[in-house]
Amino acid sequence: MRLCSAAVAVVLLALQCLPGTAYSTLSDETLKNKIPRPQSDDFDIKTGPILAPILVPRVPGTENSLKVLNHFVQYFRNELPEWTVSFQNSTSKTPTHGNKEIPFRNFIATRHPPWVVAGNAGYLTLVAHYDSKYHPDGFIGATDSAAPCAMIMSAVRSIDAALTRKWQKMQDEGLDLDFDEEHSRGIQVLFLDGEEAFQSWTATDSIYGARSLAEEWDQAMYPAMSTYKTMLNSIELFVLLDLLGCGESLPIPSWMQNTHWSYQHMAEMESRLRNLGLFRSDPKQTWLPEKDKKNDAHFNQNIMQDDHIPFVARGVPTLHLIPSRFPSQWHKIGDNAEYLDIPTVEDWSLLTAAFAAEYLELEGYFDERPVAQDTLVRDELPP
Ligand SMILES: *[C@@H]1O[C@H](CO)[C@@H](O)[C@H](O)[C@H]1NC(C)=O
Ligand SMILES: [Zn+2]
Repeated sequence: MRLCSAAVAVVLLALQCLPGTAYSTLSDETLKNKIPRPQSDDFDIKTGPILAPILVPRVPGTENSLKVLNHFVQYFRNELPEWTVSFQNSTSKTPTHGNKEIPFRNFIATRHPPWVVAGNAGYLTLVAHYDSKYHPDGFIGATDSAAPCAMIMSAVRSIDAALTRKWQKMQDEGLDLDFDEEHSRGIQVLFLDGEEAFQSWTATDSIYGARSLAEEWDQAMYPAMSTYKTMLNSIELFVLLDLLGCGESLPIPSWMQNTHWSYQHMAEMESRLRNLGLFRSDPKQTWLPEKDKKNDAHFNQNIMQDDHIPFVARGVPTLHLIPSRFPSQWHKIGDNAEYLDIPTVEDWSLLTAAFAAEYLELEGYFDERPVAQDTLVRDELPP
């Protein structure tokens, strides 16, 4: 990912999309006692079943890259069997590999209500890139973006049972489930390959996987009578996590005017989780400080180059969760496992889960949390 000094002209077809209405607030009770927190060892950097397997160099086309891809597949098969897993593959030449075609493999996992056919489901789409940079040798990219992938994996597991309960109840009650946005909303995870430039960031040496996927999905038509015309259209909100997980204070601005409403919801959730004492990271930080920014204020929406660009260019509403000042170890060998602040990784995962639960309107569908999980909360909870 790269910050451009000159604004890049991107056709913001997205402006045509009105803010979604999807959203209903979770109660304090649900946040405190119900929504599952990340499991205690999820993010152990040596043995954590979610994070540790991603903390290896993952250059596109290498054996390690395939191992990490396989880790995602196994995780969804074992932990999230209701999800549908697929890939979108492409190849491209790169500036460092001459005439050789390098393979790029995007990982896609999707779940929508059982009564909905694919073309009628709209998605909350959670996205991170899983490749790591070619240089320097041995580069891990723990914040860039191994940790964001792990945050998303844990977050979707936290809401999965509540989704099942909600959809089961809707079916049991025999609601009229046709052609209603709320009743046809699903969730999707994209782990994209080839985000990093091999040599230096240009339009053709960067975001290989994202460019290929956006182009393909733009052409992938659903059957004629579907709610959504293409696979790209069925993304309601593209939430991109990048450069998260170290302990430095790196505030994230609200980058996009047309999704400012979703930033505000997430910022509100951050402050609620902090005020309820449910975060373990440095309590003095605020990750999303622009909750009160006005809709007609200035948005720096075209300066940050990242995987969302080919989607935004095609009108996909995007919430970009990337700090404006990058981690001090950005693109250095020091962006390794030890650089991560695990309480920060856990808290981001909880925040992502809670945001998704509100987006998918899951209040009332969480069970009491098993007692053991409460011991993870740092201090006494306020009454
Ligand atoms: C994409 O690549 C993966 C990993 O090599 C492979 O398992 C899968 O079958 C490929 N998918 C398609 C649709 O070609
Ligand atoms: Zn990077």
